[in-house]
Amino acid sequence: MNIIEIKGLKKDYPLGNTVVKALRGIDIAVEEGEFMSIVGPSGSGKTTLLNVIGCIDFATEGSVKVGDREITVLNDRQITDIRLNKIGFIFQTFNLIPVLNVIENVEFPLLLMKNQSRTEIRRRADRLIGEVGLTEFAEHRPAELSGGQRQRVAIARALVTNPDIVLADEPTANLDSVTGAAILELMKEMNRIEKTTFVFSTHDANVLKYARRIVKIKDGLLSDN
Ligand SMILES: Nc1ncnc2c1ncn2[C@@H]1O[C@H](COP(=O)(O)OP(=O)(O)OP(=O)(O)O)[C@@H](O)[C@H]1O
Ligand SMILES: [Mg+2]
Repeated sequence: MNIIEIKGLKKDYPLGNTVVKALRGIDIAVEEGEFMSIVGPSGSGKTTLLNVIGCIDFATEGSVKVGDREITVLNDRQITDIRLNKIGFIFQTFNLIPVLNVIENVEFPLLLMKNQSRTEIRRRADRLIGEVGLTEFAEHRPAELSGGQRQRVAIARALVTNPDIVLADEPTANLDSVTGAAILELMKEMNRIEKTTFVFSTHDANVLKYARRIVKIKDGLLSDN
């Protein structure tokens, strides 16, 4: 089954009097349980594509199906529901909440879901923080962490809800190779055990090694080779 299905996706950004054509007609299908990477030079459209799939940005033209929903026609409430319940998003720029400490940042999506007890939420967040190696930093706020540590918080936050799809924008960009490999192993485990679908973008050859499928993007278009 295809968990993501995109046809004729275009994304324009208005910029002054001109338009930046960030995506120029993308067609792609991602099967449930895939572990795939999008590669391409800076400015090729990787973040834009992930943002559209993740319901963070909207298509200018074309069809985007996530699960069994055509997201381009959904209202705000339905979009929020998909973002919270189906997708884990690891942002290139982390987007942590500055006033919350590490454990509170990781707990945040679980609190929004409103279907678990406070103890269960703490237990799950603790576990994820342990898995990304941040237990001793649980009480720190984002400003008190290094770039790599912040990235690991963002990763724990994306995985904590056990989403069907994880979208990760350069997930290891700020990590040393040992930490990066540990994070990829954690993702691979989740992919194997939970059948979680992973789509990540990267420049990093070490990350590409882990991908079971690689899709190239250039100037807003995909190519097969
Ligand atoms: N909000 C915006 N307004 C105008 N142009 C934008 C906006 N966001 C992205 N772009 C442009 O769209 C194109 C694709 O950008 P995108 O961020 O998707 O590239 P990328 O492949 O993620 O690059 P990188 O590897 O540097 O992260 C670029 O030309 C960029 O300048
Ligand atoms: Mg990017």
